[in-house]
Parts: sequence; C-alpha cells; structure tokens
Amino acid sequence: MSDFNPINLLFEDMEKLGPGSNSDTLKVLDMLPKSVHEVIVDAGCGAGRHTLALANELQTPVHAVDSYEPFLASLTQRAKEAGIEHLVQTHCMDMADIPNTFREIDLLWPEGAAYNIGFPHALKTWHSAVKSSGFAVVSELSWLRDDVPVEVRQFFQAGYPDMRSVNENRSVAQDAGYNVLTTHTLPRETWVEGYYDILEPRAKALLDHLDKVVRDFAAETLEEIRIFGCSEDSYGYVFYVMQKA
Ligand SMILES: C[S@@+](CC[C@H](N)C(=O)[O-])C[C@H]1O[C@@H](n2cnc3c(N)ncnc32)[C@H](O)[C@@H]1O
Repeated sequence: MSDFNPINLLFEDMEKLGPGSNSDTLKVLDMLPKSVHEVIVDAGCGAGRHTLALANELQTPVHAVDSYEPFLASLTQRAKEAGIEHLVQTHCMDMADIPNTFREIDLLWPEGAAYNIGFPHALKTWHSAVKSSGFAVVSELSWLRDDVPVEVRQFFQAGYPDMRSVNENRSVAQDAGYNVLTTHTLPRETWVEGYYDILEPRAKALLDHLDKVVRDFAAETLEEIRIFGCSEDSYGYVFYVMQKA
C-alpha cells in the first residue's frame, strides 16, 4: 500500500468490493427458471467474486466488464488460481457501452454496480442488449421499510438521494421492459464478513494519512459503516431477478 489512490489503499486485494456472498449469488442463480445460458455478462464485476462463482457453477464463459483495470487484473489472477481462466474474459470498458459490445445476452448480472450509471438508466440502456426472454439479475440498494431512522435517512439523502423502495424499483423495472420474477435481499452478515470487517480497520488506519482526499474517503467509509450499524434493517441490497418482457 504505497500510493495515494484511496481506492487502492482501501480496497487492494479485497475479493468483495460490496456486500454479497457466493452462497447468495448461487441462491439467486437458482431462482432463474433456466439453468443454461450462453452469453453471460457480469457488469461492474470489480475483483469478480461473483464472476468466479457464476463461471464455476455454470461452467460457461463469463464476460466480466469493469472500468477499473486493476480490479480486472485481480480477477484474472484469481481466475488463474481457481483454474478457470478459460471461463473468464475481461473487458475494460464503461458498463453503459454494453449494447455497443454485446448482443443477445442470455444472462446479464450486474451485482452491486448498476447504481454507477443509475438503476433506471442502466435497465433502459441494457434492454436492447438482452436477448428476447433473456434474464437480467441486477442488485440495487433499496429502502426496505417506510420508518427509517432520521440519521439514516439524512445520510442517504446526501449520499444516494435516488435510493428507492423495493416496490418503486419493481415499477422502474417494468417501465424499462422487464418482468420482475422475484427478489432477494442480502442477509446482514454479507455486509460484514469479508467487506466491512476488512474496510473498517483499514479506514481507521487511514484517518491520519498525509493526503486529505484519502483521509476524507476513509472518514466517509467509517460513517457509512456506522450508519449501517444503526440502520435497523431499514435498507438493504436487493436482487431484482428479471426477464426481458
Ligand atoms: C461497489 S463495486 C462492486 C464490485 C463487484 N460487483 C462486487 O460486488 O464485488 C462497483 C464496481 O463498478 C465499477 N464501475 C463503476 N463505474 C463503472 C462504469 N461506468 N462501467 C463499468 N464499471 C464501473 C467499479 O470499478 C467497481 O468495480
């Protein structure tokens, strides 16, 4: 950890760059009514925890899309270590350009990443790239209840004002041309194990870093973790399991 890039300093060598677990990824995969998919695209794959889980389970090549090359390099390395490098093809590109690169996608799998271009915008943008009756499994931070602790509401009003309820996101999906088959909310422990439990001590250690950008990023991360601790399950990461209408 020798540079001043806050992303590298906080996330270097991490397998998970967001909440999630292989068992949840595979549970959601199992919710699809079909188990054979030819063209699979994992958008915003990061270091590719779920890319590897999908490739290994389906024994089918997965196109792994991310705009940050170091994450893709990490994924390639992990794929080699797992002996499945032949099942992972990385693409360093903007996920918004997926329709220009891929056609007739059978399974589009953006886990914890669609928010980068906005959930509604992402679903509309990707629609033309998904095959007729193909599947899109997209996870999105969502309100789970109406009664939200005040400081939690305030935190997200500033940090993610576009956050919607599950019902609102279902409507967004329908308006974008998908049928929502089912949803799945990540259990609380998948935020902590291998994610917040690694990030928290790293962020604490960076609070007195020389660079203010790094210090601020570390402080924001710690505030996010604190808010999670007092969230009373008012929000969560929800998978929307969709089929192109
Ligand atoms: C919160 S991380 C989640 C990574 C991974 N899906 C996971 O759960 O471990 C979001 C990822 O989206 C990528 N990303 C952000 N904007 C992007 C864009 N416009 N196109 C492609 N990837 C993008 C980031 O580089 C990062 O890897």
